[in-house]
Amino acid sequence: MKKRVYSGIRATGRLHLGNYLGAVKGMLAVQDEYDCIFSVVDLHAITTPYDPKTLAESTRSVILDYLAAGLDPEKCLLEVQSFVPEHMELAYLLGTVFPVAELEDLPTYKDKKAQHPKYVNMGLLYYPVLMAADVLLYKGELVPVGIDQEPHLEIMRQIARKFNGMFPSAGSGQVTFPEPRRFKTEGEYVPSLTGEGKMSKSVEGSYINLTDDLETIKAKLAKVPTDSGTLGGSIPQKGGVANLFVLAYLFGGKEMHHKYVEDYKEKRIRYGEMKQELSQIIYEQLVPIQERRRVLEANPEKVNAILKEHAAKCREIAQGTIKEVKEKMGFLQI
Ligand code: TRP
Repeated sequence: MKKRVYSGIRATGRLHLGNYLGAVKGMLAVQDEYDCIFSVVDLHAITTPYDPKTLAESTRSVILDYLAAGLDPEKCLLEVQSFVPEHMELAYLLGTVFPVAELEDLPTYKDKKAQHPKYVNMGLLYYPVLMAADVLLYKGELVPVGIDQEPHLEIMRQIARKFNGMFPSAGSGQVTFPEPRRFKTEGEYVPSLTGEGKMSKSVEGSYINLTDDLETIKAKLAKVPTDSGTLGGSIPQKGGVANLFVLAYLFGGKEMHHKYVEDYKEKRIRYGEMKQELSQIIYEQLVPIQERRRVLEANPEKVNAILKEHAAKCREIAQGTIKEVKEKMGFLQI
């Protein structure tokens, strides 16, 4: 039997290049080999301040990007998290086996608390429990996400272990939940255009959208901070120049990277030229995605039909897990 892979992206609008290379490309690479469910986690998106007027559109937008990028609805299941209410049911049940103090201690929770001091809601504290429920609902074993999600994965494993220990299966020796592992896919770190950190939706000027045209990409790259180009030596490890080199490697491959490294060493690098070439290469890789997206945008009924069909399949699996969990926990069965 194929191993199950589960991953989700928060419904915060259009995907950018960082999401594409960091998450979606990894999804594309595994859709043939594993039994995959890829989700848009809209229930997670509402834990931080959001606009109810745009939530639906943002959710649809991620689905369109998934499909446009090449996720094949014949090969994997595409899920809108809120279409499968079993996520919430399992999250509640699993929440009862996990200590509050450990959730309060989590760095991601503390960060969000500091970011939105007036929006510290129960959902935020419950975020990792819901995330554990997302994966465990489908008995997922592999989770292709960035290293920043490792603390959440650790909680997921602890919850699985705790549940398996507290509610052992009679006789069979089979545990209810596997302990999911993070699954590293290629090119997962895409640096920010600002020269600091990674591309992020929440940092203005840091990202390129999958829907950007050539002029927009050029304008964004033009703003990446550089140096005089006459420093020579080895390329910097941090900052705008370092990030341009990472992008050159990710999009132009070894050859383009090498060419500019030589130019840098020889103090003859021309960033204007490098940025032009890079813009062109990035744009070319986005064109087929943009074309597919336009077709999908024009066919909302077709997309809706996929979502409905996939939600039904997901719920069937999910209801099986809920039944098993409730039996093990001792609920009345009639
Ligand atoms: N927390 C993840 C992130 O911010 C999103 C997420 C929610 C997720 N549920 C998940 C990722 C389940 C993988 C599996 O990126």
